[in-house]
Amino acid sequence: MMGPVKPGGGFQGQNFLLIFLIIVIIIVVIIIVYFVIKKRKKKKGQEKLREHAYKGIKSREDIKSIYTPTGTSTSENKNEKNDTMIKLENLTKYYGKYLAVDNVSFEVHSGEVIGLVGPNGAGKTTIIKMIAKLLRPSSGRIWVRDNQGELKDLNKKSRNLVKLGFLIDIPAFYKDMTAYQILKYSALLQRYPREKINDRIDELLKIFDLIDWKHEKVKTFSKGMTQKLGMIQSIIHDPEIIILDEPQTGLDPLARIDIRRIIKEFHRNGKTIFVASHMLAEISEVCEKIALINFGVIIAFDTIDNLERGLRTSGLNCKLLDPISPDQLGSIIKKLTERLEPYLDKDLDVLVSKIPIKYIPQKRSFKIFYDTTDSKQTRAEILKILVKEFESDFTVVSFSKPKKSSQLEQIYSRLIAEDKVEIELSKGGVN
Ligand SMILES: Nc1ncnc2c1ncn2[C@@H]1O[C@H](COP(=O)(O)OP(=O)(O)O)[C@@H](O)[C@H]1O
Ligand SMILES: [Mg+2]
Repeated sequence: MMGPVKPGGGFQGQNFLLIFLIIVIIIVVIIIVYFVIKKRKKKKGQEKLREHAYKGIKSREDIKSIYTPTGTSTSENKNEKNDTMIKLENLTKYYGKYLAVDNVSFEVHSGEVIGLVGPNGAGKTTIIKMIAKLLRPSSGRIWVRDNQGELKDLNKKSRNLVKLGFLIDIPAFYKDMTAYQILKYSALLQRYPREKINDRIDELLKIFDLIDWKHEKVKTFSKGMTQKLGMIQSIIHDPEIIILDEPQTGLDPLARIDIRRIIKEFHRNGKTIFVASHMLAEISEVCEKIALINFGVIIAFDTIDNLERGLRTSGLNCKLLDPISPDQLGSIIKKLTERLEPYLDKDLDVLVSKIPIKYIPQKRSFKIFYDTTDSKQTRAEILKILVKEFESDFTVVSFSKPKKSSQLEQIYSRLIAEDKVEIELSKGGVN
């Protein structure tokens, strides 16, 4: 006979298992929901930032209108020149759904030094990796000149393209090899004529000021020396086109000066150089033209002079003898705005400044954005008003136009500032 079924250990165990499973499923669902929401928020944040960065600038045409190009831009004279070395045509790259490079087009001509400048994450490395064939474009084309002077599609099999040299990542060498051994190995890999290798290595080590370290092991090298060795390695085969991605990364100021000196030297030797950097001030000095990039979009491409001339606005720095006290500041700015009204920039570029007169307490100075239509006359009038009519409010000690390229830098630092906002947002989430 069977006895009554006792609520034995087996049944309890099953119950426990069921509850445990339910708890696990609930936890998994919560985790999935959390990550889905987080991803959505991040995407929303990125979209918000794109809009925010351009502040009301909705279309590509609007972005271009930040500048009124005054000189010859590449797109204008591309048919006159037949010395194009690289041509990017509507180059676009998606990582999944993320648009990292957005319809980029420009040309690099023989012997030019072009700077690709933009904040971190702007898409510079992605562009360079596509030129290096390390990444395939989602759409668009890259043309590179061949030895007969014709442009060839980089992603179709074509022979005899001009030689390219790349410095993309911070180089990682075998620490126990000497500089000479590394360079000889690289030259052989690149099929540089064997009989010329030793002379080539010596020539480059001299240019880069590393000749005394020729037979030293790389583990004894500083970061700057390693970076320079990386640059030598990337050009050991004597390429026509040299492409450098952030060559100054992590270097001290002296080493950075050295990198600029070397870029200039290659330029003198007729090389075509394309250098990406997030530091405008670092490379603007060596570049003939700058391509400013943000969120994968080229927002300007021209010589620095033309870019600056094309900026519709200009700022004056007016340094004062004594600081202005915070309680007086409002009324003084109001009076200034009224009195200088005819001369102020009515169509002030939001990327430069939101207001036409700013007081910068740290510098004890006013920055006045004025209309540049008749700039000399306008400056004279402004100075007259400041000295005569504001005698009782402040004393002007100097009155000057901003330093060369400072306006471009200002626009650029706004872009960088937007980039910082993105970092903050991605840390804290966007609501
Ligand atoms: N392999 C990848 N997968 C997904 N997103 C990427 C990848 N590489 C870069 N990105 C994203 O693409 C954007 C452009 O990156 P990158 O080209 O490295 O910019 P930069 O060199 O200007 O700093 C960034 O938002 C970056 O996070
Ligand atoms: Mg990069």
